Amino acid sequence: MKVFGGTSNFPLTQKLAKELGVEISPLEIHVFPDGEKRVRVLERVVDEDCIVVQSTATPGDTYYMELFFIVDALKRSGARSITAVIPYLGYQRQDHVFRDGEAVSLQVIAKTLEVVGVARIITFDLHTIKTPEVFNIPVDHLSALALFAEKIKELSTFNSQLSTGLVSPDMGGIRRIKQLSEMLGGMPHIEVVKNRDLASGEISISDVLGEVKAIAFIVDDMIATGATIVKAAGVLQERGAKEIFIFATHPVFTQDATRILQDAKVEKVFVTDSVDVPGDKQFSKLQILSIAPLIATKIRDIM
Ligand code: R5P
Repeated sequence: MKVFGGTSNFPLTQKLAKELGVEISPLEIHVFPDGEKRVRVLERVVDEDCIVVQSTATPGDTYYMELFFIVDALKRSGARSITAVIPYLGYQRQDHVFRDGEAVSLQVIAKTLEVVGVARIITFDLHTIKTPEVFNIPVDHLSALALFAEKIKELSTFNSQLSTGLVSPDMGGIRRIKQLSEMLGGMPHIEVVKNRDLASGEISISDVLGEVKAIAFIVDDMIATGATIVKAAGVLQERGAKEIFIFATHPVFTQDATRILQDAKVEKVFVTDSVDVPGDKQFSKLQILSIAPLIATKIRDIM
């Protein structure tokens, strides 16, 4: 088995290689002055099962193109199989036509990954459980929820005198929050009713379905601008939450997200390393949990 890493999240590739007890195989990724990339495999891969780690958060287009080229280079060099570890699968939000005339971006991504030669995908906390259906190759849909459950148990034990509850910041997250509730022995959960204007992207909150507990654990799949989380936290506080902890698998962190989150009235923001958060984007409330052991376990299972 050979492990390769694209440039989007090399720290995760390093952690994964360590977990698997292998060296990272070298790639040459040359960037031309106009931004185009030339990719070259620097090791013999004939008849090897190859793993390529590449997260496709900002800039998603660039990282997808790089992934396509790495896979193509491996294929042309004789690799037996190529498994793409795409911890954050970009473009999954556009998985169907919401309004007439729209592209189905995820389908374009899926077709391209398959055509260039990806045989299998390992990914985390997809936007919906239906996302894998867009692909014609196996998709291992892993989850960081078990990591979050551990942390929530610790925090609940520490604050055992206060009532605790899980919160989904939108109706799309109900399944996730129910799953987590089961892992936590039936911890109560509520849902925030979030509305997003499809044209402007503006978010508003119209209701909270259920009783707000003193300690609220908001759980989402990703944080992009931070607007969803911060608005949900604001409403929970108005309705009596005393301490709010945020959990989100993918720290996409666009625009001003890190400042917004640091300034928000929340105790801590737990995310995973599915997306690399460089030093200048980290903030004191942020805690990063690693998914490398979960990926390594899955790779050992399937190889
Ligand atoms: C939306 O359906 C997702 O689950 C996230 O809540 C959303 O993408 C987060 O985006 P933002 O941080 O920009 O509000």
